[in-house]
Amino acid sequence: MDTKLIIDTDPGIDDAFAIALAALSAEVDLIGVTTVFGNVPLASTTVNARRLLQLCGRPDVPVAAGAERPLVHPQPFTAAYVHGSDGLSGKSGTLPEPTRELEPVDAVSLLVQLLEAADEPVTIAPIGPLTNIALLLAAHPHVRSKIGRIVIMGGGVTFGNTTPVAEFNIWSDPEAARRVLVEETVPCVLVPVDLTHRCAVDADWIAKLSATGPIGATLVGLTGSYQKHYPKALGRQAMVLHDTVAVAEAMSQGILRTETFPIDVDCGLGPSRGQTLVDRRPATAHEESPEVRSPGTVEVAVDTDLDGLRGFVLDGLSGSRR
Ligand code: RIB
Ligand code: CA
Repeated sequence: MDTKLIIDTDPGIDDAFAIALAALSAEVDLIGVTTVFGNVPLASTTVNARRLLQLCGRPDVPVAAGAERPLVHPQPFTAAYVHGSDGLSGKSGTLPEPTRELEPVDAVSLLVQLLEAADEPVTIAPIGPLTNIALLLAAHPHVRSKIGRIVIMGGGVTFGNTTPVAEFNIWSDPEAARRVLVEETVPCVLVPVDLTHRCAVDADWIAKLSATGPIGATLVGLTGSYQKHYPKALGRQAMVLHDTVAVAEAMSQGILRTETFPIDVDCGLGPSRGQTLVDRRPATAHEESPEVRSPGTVEVAVDTDLDGLRGFVLDGLSGSRR
């Protein structure tokens, strides 16, 4: 049976590729998309998600808007400098207008409806700040049993991208991230920038995608801001489609190699706010003093067949797995 999948997203250029990857693949049943503030404000992420589903011929997928700001402290800035002011390099308006209305309920309500109706465990792939997911689990604990696993693009084990130690999705709402990653028991897979950066795609991959057909060409046409930013961030002509790595794992369990680690999230207001503290010390070294171990436990994606992953994403975006 195809995996039932809900994507929670802040499109965002790499989100666009990740949404298309799921929307164009017959091997996954994309049952809903919920939106959240993040790369750009909620109004933009929401219309972008709806337009991208229309581009992929998927007006059947319901979209509901969620949190427009973090749980506690306001987000200091967006990632418009990476994704463009509209979230899609200024090209959102060139996408097809959605024929399906935005759902009349909020994101958390749609998540509850879809989970309650599901006849098998649902995978949730949050690829933006975790505010909606924290609210869902806090307000509706009964749905925990309907969630198979949560596959999150976020965090950094050895570095950050928004600060030296914090990755953007976690940094945007650390309190929400800590609730999900540390205080909850739903199985979580964390896909950090340490791995997504290694999955960067180059000009040859981008050219191949563009040649696959109109959807691939349109997606590449959305990457202008990304192609300006990432050569500076990486020091080479490439770009990082972070969210596609997480959604690939959500679609094809095991495409990423994971290891289980204790974890904590820095919710302080200092320079390390939003840092994911992945405890890679040997577990046996601290059996007598569990209090010095990080309180949560997650699977962290640590490796993959890089070319195999890039090929999976390219094939999926080409529509060859419809
Ligand atoms: O740090 C990368 C993450 O932040 C990706 O999800 C990107 O879309 C941004 O939201
Ligand atoms: Ca994102």
